[in-house]
Amino acid sequence: MLKRLLGFFSSSIAIDLGTANTLVYMQGKGIILNEPSMVALAVDKSGMGKKILAVGQAAKTMLGKTPGQIEVIRPMKDGVIADFNVTEQMIKYFIKKVANQKRLMSVPPTIVICVPCGSTQVERRAIKDSALAAGARRVEIIEEGMAAAIGAGLPVESPRASMVVDIGGGTTEVGVISLGGLVYANSIRVAGDRLDEVITNHIRSKHGLLIGDATAEEVKKQIGSAHPDADNGEMEIRGRSVYDGLPKKVTISSSEIRGALSDALEQMITAVKQALELTPPELSADLMDSGIVLTGGGALLRGLATLISQATHLEVIIAEDPLLCVAKGCGMALDHLASNNVYLSRTR
Ligand SMILES: Nc1ncnc2c1ncn2[C@@H]1O[C@H](COP(=O)(O)OP(=O)(O)OP(=O)(O)O)[C@@H](O)[C@H]1O
Ligand SMILES: [Mg+2]
Repeated sequence: MLKRLLGFFSSSIAIDLGTANTLVYMQGKGIILNEPSMVALAVDKSGMGKKILAVGQAAKTMLGKTPGQIEVIRPMKDGVIADFNVTEQMIKYFIKKVANQKRLMSVPPTIVICVPCGSTQVERRAIKDSALAAGARRVEIIEEGMAAAIGAGLPVESPRASMVVDIGGGTTEVGVISLGGLVYANSIRVAGDRLDEVITNHIRSKHGLLIGDATAEEVKKQIGSAHPDADNGEMEIRGRSVYDGLPKKVTISSSEIRGALSDALEQMITAVKQALELTPPELSADLMDSGIVLTGGGALLRGLATLISQATHLEVIIAEDPLLCVAKGCGMALDHLASNNVYLSRTR
């Protein structure tokens, strides 16, 4: 009875602490939170410090529209913690939110949390410490590529190789998995955020129009394209003229955006090709059958699967619900925790 009660109050959770989005998976319940990794900060009454005004979706709605004393920040950058204090507060807020929703967790939970495979020991420690400071009793780390593969439903335990490419906001993770482990893993800091940045710079330099982050992301989602077959018409974009500071609009085509994105996409392709070059030959042979699976929000960029397929001569498929794969995979690793630890990183 006591055990059941403790279990009830301390349901363990898995967190996909992403650069763009944070998802929380609760054992037995699935994904119960999915919000932007954003925090709105306001100058406090003393004028010296800052207090948290809003977190997650509520903070995102303020993006680019705040008065001077309020700023919306993203405490994660390039897949790692850029602002330790704010990240800790954000994790605390999300844990409290799911606890309130489910009226659970008077005892701090076990947390499985993912990190990019390229993150340093110091960066991993920072993520772990954030979760501990947020109230976790025990924190386990899993590499994002592994979590993505598990969440995408790849046969990770099998002796046949699978390849996953997870394109998030901050990092693109390339992983080759066989027999429950990562045979090859690489992470580059070129992903969705870089594409937004490239779009912003292109529109400023070619059209003299300043746009905000939210508009750049919207352009990418609506008319962003990686391959001519996937071009998707035109879009009217509004912003501020760099010349006279007045509101201005321009119409941009999908093919123009494709041209602007090409260098960044080429870097992703290079990372994938490098993974193929460094994969042991027996496993390479498997990949000819199994192909490449794309996860993460970046997988939804129009034409990206076709572009990668043409560059590698392999079949490329987009996982079901690519934005949820890492969280699902972290959750499945959590479910395995009691029985074995094979999926977890050795970081302590
Ligand atoms: N339809 C779409 N087309 C192109 N990009 C998209 C689309 N939908 C979402 N994205 C992009 O996907 C990214 C977010 O993906 P995801 O939530 O997987 O990242 P994350 O896990 O937060 O980041 P990371 O794993 O790098 O820490 C954002 O850059 C977003 O703009
Ligand atoms: Mg991610």
